[in-house]
Amino acid sequence: MAKVDVEALGDVVVVRLSNPPVNALAHGVRTGLQAAVRAANANPAIKAIVVTGQGRAFSAGADIAEFAAGLKQPGLPEVIDELEASAKPVVAAVNGLALGGGLEVALGCHYRVIDRSVAQLGLPEVKIGILPGAGGTQRLPRLIGVEAALDMIVSGNFINAAAAEKNGLADRVAEGNVVEAAVAYARELVAAGKGARPLSAKRIEPSSIPSDLFDKGLATLGKHPSGPMAAKHCIAAVEAAVGSDYRSGVAREAALFAELAASPYAKALQYAFFAERKAADIPDIGKDVRPRAVETIGVVGAGTMGVGISLAFLQAGFPVTVVEMKPEALERGLGRIRETIASNVKRGRMAQDKADKLLSGLTGSLDFNDLRNADFIVEAVFEKMSVKQDVFRKLDAVAKKGAVLASNTSTLDVDQIAAVTGRPEDVLGTHFFSPANIMRLLEVVRGAKTAKDTLATAMAVAKRINKVGVVAGVCFGFIGNRMVEAYLEEVQAMLLEGATPAEIDGALEAWGLAMGPNAMMDLAGIDVGYLIRREHPLSEERRRLYRVTDKISELGRHGQKTGAGYYTYDGRTRIPDHAIVAMFEEEARAQKINRRTLAPEEIVERCLLRLANEGAQLLDEGIALRASDIDTIYLTGYGFPAWRGGPMWQIENAIGLEETAAKVRAYETKYGPRWKLAPLIEKCARERGSLATAGKG
Ligand code: 3HC
Ligand code: NAI
Repeated sequence: MAKVDVEALGDVVVVRLSNPPVNALAHGVRTGLQAAVRAANANPAIKAIVVTGQGRAFSAGADIAEFAAGLKQPGLPEVIDELEASAKPVVAAVNGLALGGGLEVALGCHYRVIDRSVAQLGLPEVKIGILPGAGGTQRLPRLIGVEAALDMIVSGNFINAAAAEKNGLADRVAEGNVVEAAVAYARELVAAGKGARPLSAKRIEPSSIPSDLFDKGLATLGKHPSGPMAAKHCIAAVEAAVGSDYRSGVAREAALFAELAASPYAKALQYAFFAERKAADIPDIGKDVRPRAVETIGVVGAGTMGVGISLAFLQAGFPVTVVEMKPEALERGLGRIRETIASNVKRGRMAQDKADKLLSGLTGSLDFNDLRNADFIVEAVFEKMSVKQDVFRKLDAVAKKGAVLASNTSTLDVDQIAAVTGRPEDVLGTHFFSPANIMRLLEVVRGAKTAKDTLATAMAVAKRINKVGVVAGVCFGFIGNRMVEAYLEEVQAMLLEGATPAEIDGALEAWGLAMGPNAMMDLAGIDVGYLIRREHPLSEERRRLYRVTDKISELGRHGQKTGAGYYTYDGRTRIPDHAIVAMFEEEARAQKINRRTLAPEEIVERCLLRLANEGAQLLDEGIALRASDIDTIYLTGYGFPAWRGGPMWQIENAIGLEETAAKVRAYETKYGPRWKLAPLIEKCARERGSLATAGKG
C-alpha cells in the first residue's frame, strides 16, 4: 500500500510521506516515493518536486521493526539514488524530525528547506548498532564536511535548524509554513535555471582533511554506548567517502552496514529500543483509562532523593512544593536544588531565564497543609514503615480528592503504607533511582488496591519528566533491587573464594557494565545494605557470605562518602586496598574456603546468571509483566550496557535457555540452594519456549 500523498500545486508536485506516527520508511513509503518521483519526471507539466512529511516528522528513518523480518525490495538506498537521479529539481521541506533514513532522503534531495522551530536532524543509527546505510555516510560529508559529518554520525546526536543553517545542511530556513517556503524556493530555482544537484557527484579531496582525522576519531571512541563495533564501522564508512567515487564509497558503506546488522549488538540495541517503549503497555489498562490531570507536584522530604525528585519535576516545568520536618533540612534541600540549577546554567546546559522560571515554581514548607493543592505527591522520607505510615496519614488528611499519593520506598510494602489511608486506590510506589534528576528509570509499584487511573497517571507523569516508567508488583526490592540482591550475594561469595573487589569490578566493567558491584556499593553506601540486613531475617548462608562486608561497615568504611569502603578513595578515584583483601582472606580461612584465582569469564557468568535467574522468578510470580521490562530496568537504572540487551536477553539469546539451565544446575551442585534454578527457565528450556512470551504483558 502506497503511504505517500501526492498533491500537484501547479507546476510543483508535493510528495508527502505519510506513515504515522513518525513516517518510518516502510515498504509502502519507499514504493510510494519511488512511484511519485517517476510520475513527476514523466509529466511535462511538472517542473520541480517537493518532498515532505506529515505530522511531527519528515521521517524518523527506516522502519526498525522491518529489520528483523528482512527488507523487501526496493531498498531505501535504491529509492534514494533514484530520487537523486531525478532530472527535475527535488527540494526537501523538512517539517520536523529527519532522522536516519529520513535525513538520508533529505540528502538525496537536491536542496533542503528546514523549519526553524521544530526541525531536528540526525543520523542516530549508531544508537541502534548500525550505520546510516542509505548513502548517509557518503552524502553528509560531501555536504557539510568530513569532520562535522563524522561527529554527527559517530555520536548519533541531533541538530536543530540553526545548526543546520550554519553547517550547510540547510539551503534555507523557513520561519512559517515550510512546505509553502519549499514550493516557492523550487519555483525560484526553476526560474533561475537551477536544476538537479546530486551530492553524490561531488568528490572529497583527501588533502582537504587532516591526515590523522580518522585515527584520532578511533582513539576517542572509548566505551562507546553502541558497543565494540558500530562506532568504528561508522568511522570506516565515512573514511570510504574520502577520495573515492560515490559508487565505491557506498559499496563499502553497504558491506559495513551488513556486518553490523548481523551483529548481536545491533540486535540487542534494537530489542532495547522497542523494549523501552513496550514497558508503557499495561495489559489491563486500555486507552479508555484516562490519566488524571497533573499540574502541581508535592514532595515530602528534602533529603538526597527529595532533592533529586524535586529537580526532575522542576526541570520538566512542574511547580513543586517541598515539605520537610526540620527547618535546617528544608533549607539544606532547597539550597541543593538551587545549586544544581545554578550549576546547569554555569555549564551552559540551561539559560538563566529558564532557570529563573523553574525556580519561581519552587516552594518550601514545614506545613503539610501546603500540599492541599498538589495533584501528585511523592513521599521521600526515611525508610521506616512507621515514619512512612505517619506521613501517609497526614497526606490523607490534607491532600485534595483524586490526588495521587506516591511513596519512593525502596523496600517497604506499598500495601501496608496505603492501608493507613482512607484512599488506598490513590496510592502507589514511584521508585526513583539516585540521582533522581538524572537516572531515567522509574519503577512504578502497583499496590493491591491501586486504581487503574492512578497507575496510568504515574506512567504518564514518568513520560512527562523524561523517565522510563516500568510497572512492578509489590515485593521486597521490587524488580531491580531484588535482582541486585542475588547478584551482590554472588559477589560476596566470589570475594571469599579469591577474587578481589578490583578484579570483580574490572571483569564486569570490561564486559560493558558502567560500574562494577563493589564500586556501586561504595557509591550507594555499604551502611545502607548493612542496616537493611539488620532489619530482616537472614538465612545462615547469607549471614556467612556477608560477614566481611558487615565488618567493613562496622569499621565505618561506608564507601565513597567516608573516603573508604571496599576501596579507599582519592576524591572519586578508587584505590585497591590490601587491608580489605586481607579481611576476605582471613574469613575464607575461618570458613575453610580454598582461595583461587577467578577468571573474568567466570565472574561475569555468575553475576549474569544470578541476575537472570532471579529475573525469571519475578516474571513467574507476576511481579514483572514481561522479560523485556526487566531488561529495560537494568538498562535504564543499573548501568547495564544496552548493546548486551539486558540479563534476560542475554540468557535467551547469547547463552540459550537450555545452556543456561545446565549451567545453573552445575552451580547448584557446587554451591547449593542459592543457585536453585528458576522453574520458569527450567520449563522454557524443556519445552523450547521463550521467556519473551512467558509473562502477563
Ligand atoms: N521505526 C519504527 N518505529 C518507530 C521508529 C522507527 N524508525 N521511530 C519511532 N517509531 C515508533 C515507536 O516505536 C513508537 O511506537 P509505539 O507508539 O507503537 O510505541 C512511535 O514510533 C513513537 O515513538 P516514541 O514513543 O519513541 O516517540 P518520541 O517522541 O519519544 O520519539 C523519535 C520519537 C525521536 C523519532 C524516537 O522514536 C526515535 O529515536 N526513533 C528512532 C529513530 C532512528 O533510530 N532512526 C534511524 C532508523 S535506522 C535507519 O534509518 C537506517 C537507514 O540508515 C538505512
Ligand atoms: P534522606 O535521609 O537523605 O532524606 C530523608 C528526608 O526526609 C530528611 O531530610 C528528613 O528530614 C525528611 N523527613 C523525615 N521524616 C519526615 C516527615 N515526617 N516529614 C517530612 N520530612 C521528613 O533519605 P533518602 O536517601 O533521600 O531516602 C528517602 C527515601 O527514598 C527512602 O524511602 C529511601 O529508601 C528511598 N530511596 C533512596 C535511594 C537512595 O539512593 N538514597 C534510592 C531510591 C529510593
